[in-house]
Amino acid sequence: MNNRAIGFFDSGLGGLTCIPNLLTQLPNESVIYFGDTARTPYGSKAVSTIKHYANQIADFLYTKDVKMMVIACNTITATCLSDLQTRFPEIPIVGIINPAARKIAQICDENSRIGVIATKVTIASDDYNREIKRINPNLQVFSKAAPAFVPLIEEGIIDNEIMDLTIKYYLDDFVRENEIDTLVLGCTHYPIIRKNISRLYPQLRIVNPSYEIIARIKEILKNEDLLAEEKEGENVFYASDLSENFINMIQKILETEKSDLILKFKNLDL
Ligand code: DGL
Repeated sequence: MNNRAIGFFDSGLGGLTCIPNLLTQLPNESVIYFGDTARTPYGSKAVSTIKHYANQIADFLYTKDVKMMVIACNTITATCLSDLQTRFPEIPIVGIINPAARKIAQICDENSRIGVIATKVTIASDDYNREIKRINPNLQVFSKAAPAFVPLIEEGIIDNEIMDLTIKYYLDDFVRENEIDTLVLGCTHYPIIRKNISRLYPQLRIVNPSYEIIARIKEILKNEDLLAEEKEGENVFYASDLSENFINMIQKILETEKSDLILKFKNLDL
């Protein structure tokens, strides 16, 4: 048993999409979240830059004495997971891609047409394809980078025509030409537009890794005897830019009032 907090991080607000499900399934756990809102998006940046940023964030969370770190970002998972696991061998560090690949392998067979959408860096890493095929080499995986979703989501441009047009721009040909039947939201920002995607492509079965990662977190906490016995600390949300936009989005994603949130500014450049 261990009542210390779990550290979550992402390039911005995307990783928040993991939190509601965590708090419902593991209500005794406390969360320390870091969103690098000042430097988002990461998904089209050089891998060396992403590594530098991810190390800074992990160093910061480590000073908060977290019992586990969750990389709630596919881009950072694809580029930094093993480096971070080597740097911090004392605590479990969980990436988001493997738990999603396990779920995909469970629900799909060789007739499935699996489409993965993600940032440019995640797609270039080929991590989803590799992880899925490692579990079942017979599965068919098609990939597509959809980089414009993240800046639109960070801006709060969601329930409107601009977002729907952007979704169609990336998905119309991709889904039709590859006859996709299962779509993997390979970026933690994308569950925020899940409803738009389902409305435009109701035939698609959607896999949401932000949901699937919770089962993996639970498994590790249980196996390593790290489950919290009771909720000791508050959930704290750090951001490198505490803009109105971020505050509005965090309230929307966590379905809560600003007065119920502990929001803190942390500049990692200093
Ligand atoms: N939410 C992130 C991911 O899962 C990164 C988005 C970005 O910063 O480009 O990949």
